[in-house]
Amino acid sequence: MIYSGKAISVKTIDVGIAELCFDLQDESVNKFNALTLNELKEATAAIAADTSLKGVIVTSGKSVFIVGADITEFAVHFGGSEEEIAEKILSINVDIFNAFEDLPIPTVAAFNGIAFGGGLELGLTCDYRVMSETAKIGLPEVKLGIIPGYGGTTRLPRLIGADNAIEWIASGKEQKAAEALRCGAVDAVVAPELLHDAAVSLVKQCIDGKLDHEARRREKQEPLKLNEIEATMVFETSKAFVAGKAGPHYPAPVTAIKVMQKAAGMGRDDALREEAKGIAKMASTLAAKNLIGLFLSDQILARSGKGLAKKARKVERAAVLGAGIMGGGIAYQSAFKGTPIIMKDIAQAGIDLGLSEASKLLSKRVERGQMSVAEMAGVLNKIQPSLSYDDFENVDIVVEAVVENPKVKHAVLKETEAQIRDDAILASNTSTISITHLAEPLERPENFCGMHFFNPVHKMPLVEVIRGEKTGDEAIARTVAYALAMGKKPIVVNDCPGFLVNRILLPYFGAFMGLVKRGVDFTQIDRAMERFGFPMGPAYLSDVVGIDTGVHAGAVMAEGFPERMKYDFKTSHDVMFENKRYGQKNGRGYYAYETDKKGRPKKVVDEEVTALLAPVVDGDETLSEEAIVDSMMIPMCLEAVRCLEDGIAASATDVDLSLVYGIGFPPFRGGALHYMDDFGIDKFVARADELAAAVGPLKAMYLPTEKLREMAASGDTFFGTATSGRK
Ligand SMILES: NC(=O)c1ccc[n+]([C@@H]2O[C@H](COP(=O)([O-])OP(=O)(O)OC[C@H]3O[C@@H](n4cnc5c(N)ncnc54)[C@H](O)[C@@H]3O)[C@@H](O)[C@H]2O)c1
Repeated sequence: MIYSGKAISVKTIDVGIAELCFDLQDESVNKFNALTLNELKEATAAIAADTSLKGVIVTSGKSVFIVGADITEFAVHFGGSEEEIAEKILSINVDIFNAFEDLPIPTVAAFNGIAFGGGLELGLTCDYRVMSETAKIGLPEVKLGIIPGYGGTTRLPRLIGADNAIEWIASGKEQKAAEALRCGAVDAVVAPELLHDAAVSLVKQCIDGKLDHEARRREKQEPLKLNEIEATMVFETSKAFVAGKAGPHYPAPVTAIKVMQKAAGMGRDDALREEAKGIAKMASTLAAKNLIGLFLSDQILARSGKGLAKKARKVERAAVLGAGIMGGGIAYQSAFKGTPIIMKDIAQAGIDLGLSEASKLLSKRVERGQMSVAEMAGVLNKIQPSLSYDDFENVDIVVEAVVENPKVKHAVLKETEAQIRDDAILASNTSTISITHLAEPLERPENFCGMHFFNPVHKMPLVEVIRGEKTGDEAIARTVAYALAMGKKPIVVNDCPGFLVNRILLPYFGAFMGLVKRGVDFTQIDRAMERFGFPMGPAYLSDVVGIDTGVHAGAVMAEGFPERMKYDFKTSHDVMFENKRYGQKNGRGYYAYETDKKGRPKKVVDEEVTALLAPVVDGDETLSEEAIVDSMMIPMCLEAVRCLEDGIAASATDVDLSLVYGIGFPPFRGGALHYMDDFGIDKFVARADELAAAVGPLKAMYLPTEKLREMAASGDTFFGTATSGRK
């Protein structure tokens, strides 16, 4: 044994050939934590000291190669000033990654599974790379708001060309073996069982002088081979394109390109210095702080979901009631992810619609080459359409997705309960009605809970799993397990009208209607909120959700929380509804909808709307963009605070993840409560009070809770990581 540690071992496997194997003790994956980095340094020194060695292969003892840096340690790496962060990162590069690259003998990496971030970057320090057909590699750092920092922006463009490197790094996408080989990121792709032999064979060819590993190594250490015109073409055009795609709130992809551009004429060591400066700059942004925070929160959520699911009986077979927009989507998603499902409706037309929606989604996958026709047929076969309760005694869970009417739901739930086994779970996809109330006519309320999907089901990650007063643990656990099996992110919440997400969203619409009443142009509000980072502004979102749905939800919420959500004025939503402007679904709402070249709805401003709204507008205020954003965000954030205080959500993390996964809250802002921390709780409270005094009848929506005032006074925050003041 040449070196033996807790993460890395180095042993001789053939005459003069060593194998450096990553196998992090007590962990399911390899990652670059402080321990692994330190051992890599020691192992490299041990290899350098062993003069009998003529070559090294780098392998993994796990099913992955190396998943990347240990993100839980980012706080340590990214503490301090930009200069300090750059210094720390540069010294890791020089002492560890360069030291490995500079070994006097040839090196070959064998990617057996995922090699992301630092994992791929270590592979790039090797002279050659061989990859299993099933492995995936990539540099996903931009997804966390940063750029590669262990030589990725330096070595990758020198190896695969600036154009390919820009595509890989700025998109952060994972790459399959065929693409990696095409670009030249790896030198060979083989079947998994041949990987080890292939790596040994490559290193032997280097030792025997059949391959010139030194020339190969030099390519990664010299300036990029681009003349000035080529460099301008590739970097400038891609910068403009990537900036347009990423948007102003996500600076990392463009920064990565700028770093590569600046370093293009430099040798390795100077290029690495530019890279370290680039990552230090990105690591200090609010976007990186919040995206990294979200990633870590997501891991906590995944762990707790899996923990719950383990306790539950697996859902072998499911059923959904209602084959409409939601029921059809639920049936598709269940079947697509492998759980057979009965899709019951009362009307054949409903069933036909549900099936045709599922077929459309699957056909698109076939067209894109993501699925074969046979696989599509397999998925469709897992959906069993039905107009009766036949076979319901064989299901483990039933999701009710019939019309949003408590009387209808009561009748349907009671009827269904009589058809299913005593141990089957019944879950409602209601978007607003209290689960405790829906459980009233049931014999076994302990087996009943909410399972609230978001539209469109196949796209939206969140599922709220709602615990009613009488809901039992198995109902929650099995519903969480089923949501996970469907590839969703379940978050368990307590019961109240609107649950967590819609309860927080409704005051945001209330604020919108208040602004319209005061004379603020709704297109200006949409623009402000889109610039803030939402995928669509509130008027456009209302059209997409459906004005009728919005009005209906508004009525339920007004009953549940009259002090804040009942308005004593005629709203712009009421006007749209009265005029049958239901939104995208009938081509007219706040906007009018035309069909674009690809057949998708395209919104256009409809002059008629201004005239329609005139009678409910009683002011002519013009507000700055900042004032619009504050007016919209404060009621939403305060409702989020109330949900936390009322115990609707279990944690601040759950609140923020729900908003990001459920309504597309701008991820770089981390969620409503992160946004408040970043705003500064004291400043937020002061601003809320200021607006409360100015909004007349909507005052209650803008008043901070007593607990929030106490937080402001004591300097407390939701996450304990607030940056100072607003950015
Ligand atoms: N549409 C959304 O954006 C959305 C989002 C989240 C939750 N939801 C909730 O999901 C539920 C369904 O909404 P939707 O938009 O899919 O409605 P929808 O009108 O598109 O579909 C309802 C379907 O239920 C069927 N149905 C009615 N009574 C039935 C019965 N007794 N048994 C079986 N089927 C019956 C109807 O024929 C229809 O096909 C509602 O509770 C709604 O609040 C909707």
